[in-house]
Amino acid sequence: MAATQATQARVVALRFDGDALVVLDQTLLPWRERYLRLTDAAQVADAIRRLAVRGAPMIGVAAAYAMALDPRPELLKAARPTAVNLARAVDRVAAAPDPIAEARAIHAEEEAASDAIAVHGADFLADADARRILTHCNTGALAAPGRGTALAVIAELAVRGRLERVMATESRPLLQGARLTVYELAKLNLPHELVVDSAAPGLIARGAVDVVIVGCDRVAANGDVANKVGTYGLALAARAAGIPFVVAGPTSTIDAATPTGADITIEERDPNEVRSAGGQPLTLPGTPTRNPAFDVTPAALITALVTERGVAPTP
Ligand code: MRU
Repeated sequence: MAATQATQARVVALRFDGDALVVLDQTLLPWRERYLRLTDAAQVADAIRRLAVRGAPMIGVAAAYAMALDPRPELLKAARPTAVNLARAVDRVAAAPDPIAEARAIHAEEEAASDAIAVHGADFLADADARRILTHCNTGALAAPGRGTALAVIAELAVRGRLERVMATESRPLLQGARLTVYELAKLNLPHELVVDSAAPGLIARGAVDVVIVGCDRVAANGDVANKVGTYGLALAARAAGIPFVVAGPTSTIDAATPTGADITIEERDPNEVRSAGGQPLTLPGTPTRNPAFDVTPAALITALVTERGVAPTP
């Protein structure tokens, strides 16, 4: 099925009204669409920490507006450590003569980057004749201003009539794929299937996928990429099957000051996110648990990095 632009309704996850940052509470999706009105840095930091606002470019924009409302850089930077967009946006607004104008500029730049990523990425996938696409976590309009990153590429491919089907992973533990990507794909009217994370490598090996495309939270200087936990396993599966593994993200996610993936701080979150789902316990209380929110994919496993500047084959 080919989607047309007219059928692609866009989600607005964040807006600034002059006195407050208004965000769609992503912890309640896809069941409830409730907006939060955030007026100080503590509220924004809390919303970022508990993933009411999430996705690397989106938390950068949220933190930029928070700096304009209530400049508390250290509080905001501490909310989440892995995505470089957050600290970078905080520093940029802190150094700007007009904080609101700077925050609006960051927001506008990310929107423009999203549109360009969509076009460059769709050109690349169309050239590879990739029509059955697997993606991980959520990289759409909920995660980045505009159309998103990897999901923007997928949506653009659909506009061109070249998308057969999107396979979305659940993305445990917080289910950004099952809750958020499926919500966006349904709104975009794109054909999709949900799979558990552990099904993806086997399906890739069986030839059910032409390309894997994901977003990124930090790209190190050597091209290693930190992204939602589970990304590395998908890259290994793609390499083993001989299909492209593509990363999409704005240049605001590239961090030349981080030499390699080993230097990226990986956020470890509350073990209860793993021990339960939707408030229901999944295991014995107090079970020793690790909950890294991200992993690092070495540059050698990445076929291409799509940014607003074009497509770079990684080293
Ligand atoms: O923990 P999250 O939901 O903020 O993780 C998001 C991701 O890993 C995305 O892939 C990444 O931020 C890119 S978003 C366009």
